[in-house]
Amino acid sequence: MSDGPPASLAPPLGLLAELTHRCPLACPYCSNPLALERQGAELSTAAWAGVFAEAADLGVLHVHLSGGEPASRRDLVELTAAAHAAGLYTNLITSGIGTDAVRLARLRDAGLDHVQLSIQDTEAESSDHIAGYPGAFARKQAFAREVTALGLALTINAVVHRANIGRVGAMIETAATLGAGRLEVAHTQYYGWALRNRAALMPTRAQVERAMADVEAARPRHVGRMVIDLVVPDYYARRPKPCLGGWGRRSLNVTPSGRVLPCHAAETIRGLEFWSVRDRHLAEIWAKSPAFEAFRGTGWMREPCRSCSLRELDFGGCRCQALALAGDAAAADPACDLSPHHARMLALAEEASADPGIRYEYRGRGHLRGAPVPIPAG
Ligand code: SF4
Ligand code: FES
Repeated sequence: MSDGPPASLAPPLGLLAELTHRCPLACPYCSNPLALERQGAELSTAAWAGVFAEAADLGVLHVHLSGGEPASRRDLVELTAAAHAAGLYTNLITSGIGTDAVRLARLRDAGLDHVQLSIQDTEAESSDHIAGYPGAFARKQAFAREVTALGLALTINAVVHRANIGRVGAMIETAATLGAGRLEVAHTQYYGWALRNRAALMPTRAQVERAMADVEAARPRHVGRMVIDLVVPDYYARRPKPCLGGWGRRSLNVTPSGRVLPCHAAETIRGLEFWSVRDRHLAEIWAKSPAFEAFRGTGWMREPCRSCSLRELDFGGCRCQALALAGDAAAADPACDLSPHHARMLALAEEASADPGIRYEYRGRGHLRGAPVPIPAG
């Protein structure tokens, strides 16, 4: 499919270490796969330490300690210490559940540099409902205060969708009050479990436009104190994002059991061959793994991407989204209005966002709780 990696292949900058798929929350927008990896299949402490050392040798600068909920790993302090000892900048991506003040202090002392805390909403009832976890809101607020009290850098991550997108302005003020240096407002990406809840999560175009205006209006008030990043939704876009900066160009993911993926959802693409850190050195995987080579560069592209002047800028968008919506991972991302599937993608969004009475499906719990997601005004 590909012309193969260029001779001048640059090293990846970031490593997403999916330490575990275990998680106490049940967010309906979870982008982890439908079939989660079992605890018994997870890499050991020593194996992860080896991965971090190999990543640093390869040129990786940042490691994102992620999950699931990484705090579900009892050895999180040891893992953080190993990543720090390898010379990596360490970022903990967490729900804030499962880490008390004592453990957080141990993480800092082990070399943790940065914490990225997810919030589900700015109101307790809605927040706990979305997380599928009573008390999550209060715990997260307390956790954020503990992070800043310890002098750790804090980013707040808010995944927005139909039920909470109307409170983007309040999210910005909440993040500022909690002392975050950065806020990421990210529209739901419909991969993994989230795709199952697409009808309940999809906002209307009017909601999206209002939220984008709220972010623009708030930015000047926070200049110099908090950076606000906005990830806009693909379903209402005209051009796709260069997913992860291009397939196999900047980052890699290691799953809990050690398989190395070019992106979070790559395993949805049938026929790709993924290599494991259990069998091979990370540098060899980065350079030669068939999964990384499959969509590197532009040689795999078809029309309209192949002759498009933007192909080196967006790399044809997202391969996983192309598969999910066009049925072909080598097609142009349907977020692009040059794709023959673009109109259907927009129609899907409009149809889904108007769908009344849909309840969230929680992983492992069915449609157990909560009220239907409200139909937004406007
Ligand atoms: Fe990007 Fe392909 Fe669309 Fe051109 S045709 S803008 S390369 S997705
Ligand atoms: Fe796989 Fe975008 S999530 S390429």
